[in-house]
Amino acid sequence: MIDIEQYRISQAPYYRAQGEEIALYEAAYAARLPVMLKGPTGCGKSRFVEYMAWKLGKPLITVACNEDMTASDLVGRYLLDKDGTRWQDGPLTLAARIGAICYLDEVVEARKDTTVVIHPLTDYRRTLPLDKKGELIEAHADFQLVISFNPGYQTLMKDLKQSTKQRFAALEFDYADAETEQAIVTKETGIDSDTAAKLVQIAHRARKLKGHGLEEGISTRLLVYAGQLIGQNIAPRAACRMALSRPITDDADIRDTLEHAIDSYFD
Ligand SMILES: Nc1ncnc2c1ncn2[C@@H]1O[C@H](COP(=O)(O)OP(=O)(O)OP(=O)(O)O)[C@@H](O)[C@H]1O
Ligand SMILES: [Mg+2]
Repeated sequence: MIDIEQYRISQAPYYRAQGEEIALYEAAYAARLPVMLKGPTGCGKSRFVEYMAWKLGKPLITVACNEDMTASDLVGRYLLDKDGTRWQDGPLTLAARIGAICYLDEVVEARKDTTVVIHPLTDYRRTLPLDKKGELIEAHADFQLVISFNPGYQTLMKDLKQSTKQRFAALEFDYADAETEQAIVTKETGIDSDTAAKLVQIAHRARKLKGHGLEEGISTRLLVYAGQLIGQNIAPRAACRMALSRPITDDADIRDTLEHAIDSYFD
């Protein structure tokens, strides 16, 4: 027997709303629409799904997608054990059976032949054929599929097919406005709000470099890391180097620019 409780989120995750996303998601869930969360790395997509699963009281099954993932990794496979063969549900099948929210993180990383297995689950059919097992699963009434997607990173080779995209309603995320992001960093790390405000200002400087030598700006996640290091009594300049400038670039010029900005906020 599967213990559903292990997929339930018992404690309310901290999530600070950026706009109408909570009400929009609730409406999408009520209609059982599949949802796509778009936005840059570390802006709160995963935290949002955890929060919504908790708020709706539904189990959450998260799958980190990668290019080696096969349809069987999602759907399930026969395993050999001492008594012969035994079918084991994959995470998608399990979610469809128990009525969980299934969150496929970074779905664009998966190969297209893997991605198509979600198609019958994400239209009016709400079914999942287990071809190898000869079983057709009807999704539980509470089941919902959510995928995340970082627009911009993928090349032409790596994009979702239109026939996949057009099965989802989309919510666009971005880094929160300065005041909200400062509140997030303060709450997540316990540092004072002045220091959090400076971290956010450094991030704003870095985000202006996106497309001018930086592939992506400093994420909220990295600001939280910097705050956590400062909370461990690391001097802010060192914390910002370790958490903000060094992770995001190997380009010496860009790094100097960022570290010059860091030093202008912290002495
Ligand atoms: N709105 C928010 N409320 C609370 N915390 C947030 C929020 N946005 C970002 N965070 C903080 O930023 C961290 C990173 O967010 P999260 O893991 O949700 O990013 P993500 O968008 O899923 O990134 P990725 O695409 O890399 O998976 C969280 O652990 C949390 O500390
Ligand atoms: Mg995530």
